[in-house]
Amino acid sequence: MVSPTDSHDQRAAGLWTGILVLFILVAGVGSFVVAAYKWWLQPLASVQGGIIDQYFNAILFVTAVAFVATHLFLAAALIRYAARGKQRAAYWHEHLGAELTWTIVPGVAFIVLGILGVFTWSKIYSAPPSNSQVVEVTGRQFFWYVRYPGPDGAFARTDTKFISQSNPLGLDPADPATKTNVVILNELHMVNNRPIEVRVRSVDVIHSFFLPNFRVKQDAVPGRTFAIWFTPDKEGKYQIACAQLCGTGHYTMRGSVTVESQDAFDQWLREQAAH
Ligand code: CUA
Repeated sequence: MVSPTDSHDQRAAGLWTGILVLFILVAGVGSFVVAAYKWWLQPLASVQGGIIDQYFNAILFVTAVAFVATHLFLAAALIRYAARGKQRAAYWHEHLGAELTWTIVPGVAFIVLGILGVFTWSKIYSAPPSNSQVVEVTGRQFFWYVRYPGPDGAFARTDTKFISQSNPLGLDPADPATKTNVVILNELHMVNNRPIEVRVRSVDVIHSFFLPNFRVKQDAVPGRTFAIWFTPDKEGKYQIACAQLCGTGHYTMRGSVTVESQDAFDQWLREQAAH
């Protein structure tokens, strides 16, 4: 038997728990609005970044709808049904329609997002176009070395046995391209509206090559080379960050990115080569 007091206490408990759930909902949505206003994604500066952002927004939309709907439902159920005394729980087959709905709807959303993800991935991790500029970026505690090929486009062979203070990437002295390759510390220059292939490497620990404005993030793993490509489409100055905790100086592992015209790039590279 449920006494009137029990029932009253349960109703009060249900009401307050429901209000707490509503508070979590308002706090969640509110903190999203503040974050979206103050710390949202960096301004977009690549063609492929637009595809990533679309996918990001699709996931955000689906999860936001699920978040709001489930919290409203939970709060309404708590406030309305908490005072029903010692009623037993219902089994799934007693509410088959409801069970099927909340199993199938998230399942379909999950599958659709998964398929969209495969398309997004295949658009970005395809072979780079033949007119791509090619550079090599090598992480090292706590710098980025950017290597540009000479006018013939050739990269010199590298070997760890050649690594020294004056030859940090271990370029082979016997390779003729060693003389034309230009290695610059922390400075990545790219040509506007031209695809760029970046070969990401590391000489010590795992780093992560991160270009927030271009929506590019690729781990740099010792002993391996990962090629990624994208097309910058907005001239300007940007930053390289390291997105993998790689040691005490991790936070200082910052480089600059310049997107400029082909002429400006050619001139800059000639000046660097002359040094
Ligand atoms: Cu390199 Cu963090």
